[in-house]
Amino acid sequence: MNPTPPVDELRYLSGFGNEFSSEALPGALPVGQNSPQKAPYGLYAELFSGTAFTVPRSEARRTWLYRIKPSAEHPSYQRLARQIPGQALGPINPNRLRWDAFALPSEPTDLLEGLLTITATASPDQVSGVSVHVYRANRSMERAFFNADGEWLLVPQQGRLRVVTELGPLEVAPEEILVLPRGLKFRVELLDASARGYICENHGCALRLPDLGPIGSNGLANPRDFLAPVARYEEADRPTQLVQKFLGELWSTELDHSPFDVVAWHGNNVPYKYDLRRFNTIGTVSYDHPDPSIFTVLTAPGAVHGQANVDFVIFPPRWMVAENTFRPPWFHRNLMNEFMGLISGAYDAKADGFSPGGASLHNCMSAHGPDNATTVKAIEADLAPHKIDQTMAFMFETGAVLRATQFALECEHLQRDYDACWSGMRKSFHSEKP
Ligand SMILES: [Fe+2]
Repeated sequence: MNPTPPVDELRYLSGFGNEFSSEALPGALPVGQNSPQKAPYGLYAELFSGTAFTVPRSEARRTWLYRIKPSAEHPSYQRLARQIPGQALGPINPNRLRWDAFALPSEPTDLLEGLLTITATASPDQVSGVSVHVYRANRSMERAFFNADGEWLLVPQQGRLRVVTELGPLEVAPEEILVLPRGLKFRVELLDASARGYICENHGCALRLPDLGPIGSNGLANPRDFLAPVARYEEADRPTQLVQKFLGELWSTELDHSPFDVVAWHGNNVPYKYDLRRFNTIGTVSYDHPDPSIFTVLTAPGAVHGQANVDFVIFPPRWMVAENTFRPPWFHRNLMNEFMGLISGAYDAKADGFSPGGASLHNCMSAHGPDNATTVKAIEADLAPHKIDQTMAFMFETGAVLRATQFALECEHLQRDYDACWSGMRKSFHSEKP
C-alpha cells in the first residue's frame, strides 16, 4: 500500500470544464504528454472516456489513468445467475403511484444484491432517459462494479458509505449525494450497520450545474462545494470479482489483482460528492411560488432545447414568507415526469403516507398537489413567516415518461389507496360570494 493521504483530503471541483489531477506517488503523472513510451514508475496509461471524442470541448469528459495493470487484462465476462429485480417494465399505467419505505434486507446483502429497479423511461440501451433504482445493503461489497449503462447519481437516505473508486475514495452520508461517471469502477463499503438510498441512472448527457440566468454568478449549488477524490491505489495481487451492468444485465469476471490500482490521474471525468445542506435556496420574498426549477441542484440536458433529460431537484429547509399565498406546492399538471423521494423529515405537500425511504411517481399530465389535509390547513393558515425545517425531499424530474417496472407495480410496498389522499376535497365554491 502507498502512503496515501487521508480520505477526507479532498479537492474542490470549481467547474466541470476544468482539468483536475492527483497523484499518490510524487512524479507519477507524466508531464507534458498523456501517453509516453515509458510512463513513470512503470505504470500503464489508459484513457477513460465518457463522451464521444468529437463533442464540443465544453461537453467533453475524459480522464487519463496511470495504473499498475491496464483494465484490458481480464478473462471473459459470464452472466450472473442473480439479476436485478425490476429489469422488465410493467404494463402502461397512467396512475399516480406511491410506495412505502423499501424494507431493509434481513439476509447478508451488499449494494448490488440489494438493488431494485423501480421505474425507467426506456430500456438501458438508449442514449437518453433514466432508470431509477433503490438500494438496500447491510454489508460491504468485496467485489468491484461498474455500470456501462449510464452515470449514477447516488442519494443516500440511511447509512454512511465509503465508496472506493478508481480515482480514490469518497465518503458520503445522508443529505449528501455522490455522482459516479458511467464505466467508473467502484466498491461500496458500509460505515454503518445498514444503508438505503436512491439511484438515478442517467443514460444521457452527463449531469452538470444549471445555468443561473438572472440569478447571477452565485446561488443554488455553488461549484466550489463539489468535491472529487485524491488518488489512492491498492497494490493487491489477489482474486477480485469485477461485475458490470451492461444493457441492464449483470455480468462478472475474475481479476487476479485489485482494479483500484490507479496511482495518478488527470482529467474531468471524475466522481464527485456534494452536501445538499450547502444548497443556497432561493424563493419568493413577495407572493406566490417560483417554479420548482429554482431548486435544481444538477441537470442533464435533453434533446429539446431547455427540456432536461433529468433534473435533480431538492426541497431543503427554507423560510416561507409569501404574503396572501397558498404556500404548499400548487396543484399542477406538468409535461415533465416526477419521481420523488424523501431523505428525512416530512414533505410539506403531504400530511402523511410519504415516508423517508419511500417514493412517489407523478407522470406527464397526471393531476397532483397537496393532499386534502394539507390543503385545508393551508387555506386557513396564519401567514406569519415560518420555517420548514428538519426535512430533505428530492425529485428526479425527467422529460420522458417514467414507467414503473413490473416489480414496482406488484411489490408489497406499493400503496394501493394512494388516490384516496385527494378524495373528499370540500366544495367551497359559492356563486354569490366572490
Ligand atoms: Fe409535482
